[in-house]
Amino acid sequence: MPSHNAHIQFEKWAREYGPIYSLILGTKCLIVLSSDEAVKELLDKRSGLYSHRPEMYIGQTLCSGNLRLLMMGYGPTWRGFRKMVHGLLNVTTSKKYVPYQMLENRQMLYELLTQPEGFLKHIRRYSNALTTTMVFGWRTPTYEDEKIVQLFNGFSEFAEINQTGTAAIIDFFPWLRYLPDFLLPTQRKAKELHRHEKALYLDHWLRAKEQIRQNTIKPCFCAGMYEAQKQDGFSDDQAAYISGTLLEAGSDTTSSTLYAFVQAMLLFPDVQQKAQTEIERFVGPNRLPVMEDLSELHYVRACMKETVRWMPTTILGAVPHAVTQDDEYKGYFIPKGAGVLNNVWGIHMDPKRHPNPRTFNPDRYHEDRQSFSDAAANPDPSKRDVFTFGAGRRICPGIHVAERSLFLGISRILWAFDIAPEVDSKGSPILPDPDRLTQGFVCMPEEFPAKITARSKERAELVVREWRDAERECLDPKTGQWVQSPVSAF
Ligand code: HEM
Repeated sequence: MPSHNAHIQFEKWAREYGPIYSLILGTKCLIVLSSDEAVKELLDKRSGLYSHRPEMYIGQTLCSGNLRLLMMGYGPTWRGFRKMVHGLLNVTTSKKYVPYQMLENRQMLYELLTQPEGFLKHIRRYSNALTTTMVFGWRTPTYEDEKIVQLFNGFSEFAEINQTGTAAIIDFFPWLRYLPDFLLPTQRKAKELHRHEKALYLDHWLRAKEQIRQNTIKPCFCAGMYEAQKQDGFSDDQAAYISGTLLEAGSDTTSSTLYAFVQAMLLFPDVQQKAQTEIERFVGPNRLPVMEDLSELHYVRACMKETVRWMPTTILGAVPHAVTQDDEYKGYFIPKGAGVLNNVWGIHMDPKRHPNPRTFNPDRYHEDRQSFSDAAANPDPSKRDVFTFGAGRRICPGIHVAERSLFLGISRILWAFDIAPEVDSKGSPILPDPDRLTQGFVCMPEEFPAKITARSKERAELVVREWRDAERECLDPKTGQWVQSPVSAF
């Protein structure tokens, strides 16, 4: 198992061994699914059997004290929490967040205009602020906000410890766990991370609880969880982890995808031009795109889908599923307890499914009018757009929110700005290598420079006006928080 760019090896094996193959890792079996059909048949159709998680000693036991929803085994505890999260993110509730998304989007555009070189930071703040508002009822007016810096340092450490490869060694050879920590730095780091993370998440949760008691909290997920805790009696540690890790699941995934979109625009300028022409035709120069434009902006929607295919941030499906009883598929025996990996990269880069897969070509989705969620539910697996959101009962519950954040991000950036390469001292364009990715179970392109400039003086003025109006109408000038939440209740 390579400890770097594992997705490349998984893809190679898929070409060599076909859509289903298994690895024996130490004492454990990992089945790798690399076709749309296999994912549909096993993870979707047989999801009653395939929605468990393998034992993740480093990720779940040491780093998370067995409290992380993403890594929790299938069963009544997971089901209860999943239901609660569904209440926050389902197809109906998620529509209520559009005013939050619009506000954060306005700030992002303003920041891209005024400090374009920090574009990664602005994109991240956009998705972080949205998630903290949904979960805790407060937003992060600046990227440097101490709360958010602490949270995100923890997340990247978690992703690094848990990248496919290194954590696996101790997961797959259980006897290693009895070695002292000084011989196993990953084990020591994982325990330290959990100590810090738990303190941080508890602090946020207990503060939210206090605000609920004082009736000062804005409508948010924690308010609902408070009621659920009174009924079900789960611990504060558990509640803290559910809310804390919702931020992790919802923030970097979205921002990394938008960052990849910026990279694609640098490398494929014709696509940028075509998308801008479409926006010009349907939206025009006098207003910015809004959610209602999605039904007309087919090419922009296709750009969004192609970004999620071309650079799937959850490149190997985030966390493997596991099967709860012996099963058989196409003559292959699948043993109870095996991990089952959704080889997203392998499927997306299959030239039979997507000819010239490394070319960013939104025309692949020319006729596709499905939402991400509808496409995932399409009984014909060849009609499914992407596999980045996972599958079956564990499919990403944030899929509806993510789709809106991505559409609003992409369409409004394209309306307002041109994205072009920076030039070096000799005047040559600096083009990033799209195959250089950060490592971790959620990844993104390695950092790259780009020149982001307003498409006209009038567009720049509108971006400034939209943000200034939003600030004046919605936010407390001292705290930068919503004066009155636009979401009445969940
Ligand atoms: C582009 C954006 C996103 C991507 C690519 C993404 C991808 C994923 C993937 C691959 C999984 C695991 C699915 C599986 O096991 O089959 C997952 C789980 C999850 N996602 Fe997302 N996600 C995104 C955005 C969000 C957002 C915005 C939220 C919430 C605000 C969210 C919340 C969650 C949660 C709570 C889980 C754990 C579900 C469970 O284990 O039952 N995600 N996501």
